[in-house]
Amino acid sequence: MSHKLWGGRFSGETDPRMEAFNASIHFDQRLWRADIQASQAYAKALARAGILTPEEAETLVTGLEQVAQEWAQGRFVLQPGDEDIHTANERRLTELVGPVAGKLHTGRSRNDQVATDLRLWLREEIRTLRQELRGLIRTGVERAREEIDLLMPGYTHLQPAQPIRWSHWLLSHVWPWQRDAQRLDQLAERVNVLPLGSGALAGNPFPIDRRFLAQELGFQDVTPNSMDGVSDRDFVAEFLFWASLTMVHLSRLAEDLILYSTQEFGFVVLADAYSTGSSLMPQKKNPDSMELLRGKSGRTLGHLTGLLATLKGLPSTYNKDLQEDKEPLFDAVDTLARALPIAAGVLATLAVLPQGLAMALTPEMLATDLADYLVRKGVPFREAHHIAGKAVRMAEERGISLPELSLADLRQLHPAFDHDVDLVWDFEASVEQRDVEGGTSRRAVLAQIQALERWLEES
Ligand code: ARG
Repeated sequence: MSHKLWGGRFSGETDPRMEAFNASIHFDQRLWRADIQASQAYAKALARAGILTPEEAETLVTGLEQVAQEWAQGRFVLQPGDEDIHTANERRLTELVGPVAGKLHTGRSRNDQVATDLRLWLREEIRTLRQELRGLIRTGVERAREEIDLLMPGYTHLQPAQPIRWSHWLLSHVWPWQRDAQRLDQLAERVNVLPLGSGALAGNPFPIDRRFLAQELGFQDVTPNSMDGVSDRDFVAEFLFWASLTMVHLSRLAEDLILYSTQEFGFVVLADAYSTGSSLMPQKKNPDSMELLRGKSGRTLGHLTGLLATLKGLPSTYNKDLQEDKEPLFDAVDTLARALPIAAGVLATLAVLPQGLAMALTPEMLATDLADYLVRKGVPFREAHHIAGKAVRMAEERGISLPELSLADLRQLHPAFDHDVDLVWDFEASVEQRDVEGGTSRRAVLAQIQALERWLEES
């Protein structure tokens, strides 16, 4: 007789290459704890349904606890026939408690089992990731509060555009992370639904109390349709989308910081702790931490598109293709678990160079303010924009900077210019004028900081 769980109807041997191809134990063993928890709950449910005596259920629960100990202590020894984590745990349980182990799988299928394990596992991972994300947000908010005095150039199209507060730039990265945290909370609710009791596809033939199972395992709800329950991997796809978008956000921070740490920008210096040197060029200090965040975002995105491609053409219910859900999910979880603390570390230890920021502020960035000045004198914006543009060209042609144009020069362009035009050439004033909600004035930035601090307290 074959040692396989499903060996009964088979007489021929499996090609060893097929055996290796089919096996998932080398990656799904990380589900061991979830698999045991779910089996313990299931043993109790079987007892409640009268399939097991209370003593038998107790034997299974205790035996499963022993298996868990072996995993926890690194003593679990895999055997050649251990196709996946479910077969491995059941095989070991049988060795420990004898034939009664054969009752555990009554009414259950690996189809509802694996879906349950994966949801249980992901739910716990999400808790950790959520904490890391919160830490990153906190770091960003703290810096934004401390360094609110600093001004810097803001860019569009990577061209110097208008002066902004450094904290405003920082927070422009923090808000997407806050949305990522909200998104994670929302998808966590959809992860936390129990498929166990769906059987292979048609439901459980024994009076298993699924609500009891859900309660035992901390699930909010049970899946409403057994066929959907065994094949639904939306929660994996959603998580991979979350992971991808979060990595895209980290990648954009990384890109800014890579640029800002170049000699040409000279705005920030990455801490040694998050930089590496060159094996050839002694002077180099490379922002590898940031480049890896940027690079790994591509990899995570690949997992999302890969999983969607796997799901796309599947017929109803469970198909073995679904075994391909785990490696991308595991890798995305690992990537985020590593990336979030790195991003937080970089952000916490980054040195900002106030001189560099100040030197990069050029009066041309106040050309909009010059137009706004005319608007305040009653000139229509379109005309004001045109005149400010002419002033920029005039200064450029004479090889001087905008504020060096005399009042007489400006009056040539428009009679509304007056002595108070001098007040335009002040970066702080420019920034303070943008005082609307969401703007870059001190008050508006402080309001953002307070809103995020309140959010941090509540979450
Ligand atoms: N290792 C399998 C997976 O990860 C478990 C489910 C197997 N189910 C089956 N009917 N062969 O998807």
